Amino acid sequence: MSDRVTEHYRNLSNNYDELWSYSPEFIAAMAQAICDRLQAKTSDRIVDLGGGTGLYTKAIDRLLQPDNKITCVDPSSEMLDRVNSERIETCCQDAVIFTEEPGNYNKVLLKEAIHHIPEKARLFENLYRQLPTGGIFLLILLPPTIEYPLFTAALQHYEKSQPNYQDLVAQLETANFKVETAFVDFPAAIDRDRYLNMVKMRYMSLFRHFSDGEIAAGIEEIKEKYPDTILTFNDRFVFITASK
Ligand SMILES: C[S@@+](CC[C@H](N)C(=O)[O-])C[C@H]1O[C@@H](n2cnc3c(N)ncnc32)[C@H](O)[C@@H]1O
Repeated sequence: MSDRVTEHYRNLSNNYDELWSYSPEFIAAMAQAICDRLQAKTSDRIVDLGGGTGLYTKAIDRLLQPDNKITCVDPSSEMLDRVNSERIETCCQDAVIFTEEPGNYNKVLLKEAIHHIPEKARLFENLYRQLPTGGIFLLILLPPTIEYPLFTAALQHYEKSQPNYQDLVAQLETANFKVETAFVDFPAAIDRDRYLNMVKMRYMSLFRHFSDGEIAAGIEEIKEKYPDTILTFNDRFVFITASK
C-alpha cells in the first residue's frame, strides 16, 4: 500500500463506518447481495480481502451466522482495529501477500479495494491456486462512471483512475476463472449536509488528491448543483463472480 493510501485510511479509520454507512438497510441489502452471489453456506470458510473496518464482514456474519469465523484481511492496522468483534478473525496483510500462502478458505470477497492493488493479475492467479474446485471469488467495484452528487473535478478524477471492470474480467478469465458480471443497483437517499460532511472528511480515497481549498470549492459547487436537502442517486456496483 502506498504511503498516501496508508495515511488516508489511518485518518479515516475512526469515522469510516459512520461515513460509509448510508443506512442500516443499505448495509443489510448489500450483505444479502454478497451472500447470494457467493452462494454462501454456513459451512463456508469466508475471507473478506481489503475488508477494512469489517463493516461488511460483520454484516455477512450477522446474516449468515457461519460455523467458521470470517477472516477480515487488510494492510491498515488502524482500519482493522475497528473490527472489534470476537466473531471475526483479523489479519493485517496485503491481499497479494495473503493469497500467496496456502489458506483454508473457499469463498473470497474483495469489495471496493481493487483500485488499491497494483498486482491484480498476481492476485487473481494466487486466488485461483488457493481456492478449491467450486470456490468463488466475488469482486465488487464501482462502474466506470458514477452518479454520485460530487463536484466535476472529483468525478473526472474518478473516471480517469478507476480500474475498468472489463479489464478485470479479462484478467480473471486469463487466470482460468469462469466469470459472470452483473450490475447491482442500490437506490440511495442521503441528507445533503451529511453528504457534504462526508466530502469534507474525504470519505473516498480519491479526495486525497485534492487540497483543502479545492475540497471547500467542491463543496460550494455541490451546494449549487444540488439545492435539495435530500440527495437521491443510484448507487450502482459491478459484481464480478469468478468461479473455479
Ligand atoms: C474503500 S475501503 C473498502 C473497505 C471494505 N471492503 C468496505 O467495503 O467497507 C478500501 C480498503 O482497501 C484496503 N487496502 C488498500 N490496499 C490494499 C491491499 N494492497 N490489499 C488489501 N487491502 C488493501 C484499505 O486499507 C481499505 O481498508
